[in-house]
Amino acid sequence: MNVTERTDLGRTRGNDCFPLLFECRDTVTLEQSLDWVSRQRETLVARAAAHGALLFRGFGVTSDHDFDAFIQAFGLPNFTYAESLSNAVRVNRTERVFTANEAPPEAVIDMHHEMAQTPVFPSRLFFFCEQAAAGGGETPLCRSDWLLDDLAAELPGFVARCRELGVRYRNTMPAEDVAQSGQGRSWASTLSVDSREAAEARLAALGYDWEWLEDGSLRAITPVLPAIRKMSDGREVFFNQLIAAYRGWKDAERAITFGDDSPFPRDDMERVCELAAEITFDTPWESGDVVLVDNFLVMHGRRPFTGTRRVLASLVADDGSRLAA
Ligand code: FE2
Repeated sequence: MNVTERTDLGRTRGNDCFPLLFECRDTVTLEQSLDWVSRQRETLVARAAAHGALLFRGFGVTSDHDFDAFIQAFGLPNFTYAESLSNAVRVNRTERVFTANEAPPEAVIDMHHEMAQTPVFPSRLFFFCEQAAAGGGETPLCRSDWLLDDLAAELPGFVARCRELGVRYRNTMPAEDVAQSGQGRSWASTLSVDSREAAEARLAALGYDWEWLEDGSLRAITPVLPAIRKMSDGREVFFNQLIAAYRGWKDAERAITFGDDSPFPRDDMERVCELAAEITFDTPWESGDVVLVDNFLVMHGRRPFTGTRRVLASLVADDGSRLAA
């Protein structure tokens, strides 16, 4: 297979760059691609961990089942929806593949590390563009180690508070699934339980506080979670859900606080959002593209779009996916 690796597509900082583009110059079959991936999967996984994201173009991936097979060629364990505390309602296509957020085309999905607002999160994400939008619909990607460097230079006091205090997130899980909401997964489904007693036991085990509301919904408050994470290679990352929560959650001022329950200063949060936007790369989707994102290093989101856009996703678990209890 004639695969070229390009580093000139994305963003660079010093000797570092992201994402890496792997482009197949010849027409290949899916079988050839799977063979190529499985022969160099260790290198590819290491490249993704170092650079944050890999974009594969021209690898003959055309359907959800192709995508599932492509993912499996990497030999990475699946992160199941059942074990996750994700609050999104998900529609699966295969056991490992599901439709990415079903929010309406005009909606912006703000930058986030997947499930960083919970103690259980995927280590990596795969995205597959089944159909590119007529306009827009890029997947923005942002290196959170670069963002942390910029924040430390400009807002050292804010970074120090993030580091010392951590963050708590508060969200309300409805009594029943609400499919059209971005955060509509019921508490029973989110917590994989069928009674209030079991829900309380699960939350207690995870270190959450909670409150039952009159309409049967459940307000959950996370334990103090780190706002900055140290990776196994020593790099530090602004690993959290702050931007998406600040910009997109209802009643954000109360929904996110430092670990001592003090509010996040608006000015600082505005600057966090601006600095992230300055270093964000917009994935220019073409139908058939696959992206592998390191969830510990890179935030993602979604741009609004016109036309039909179908981007599928799959999540990977590993040892780093769970905060030590
Ligand atoms: Fe996401």
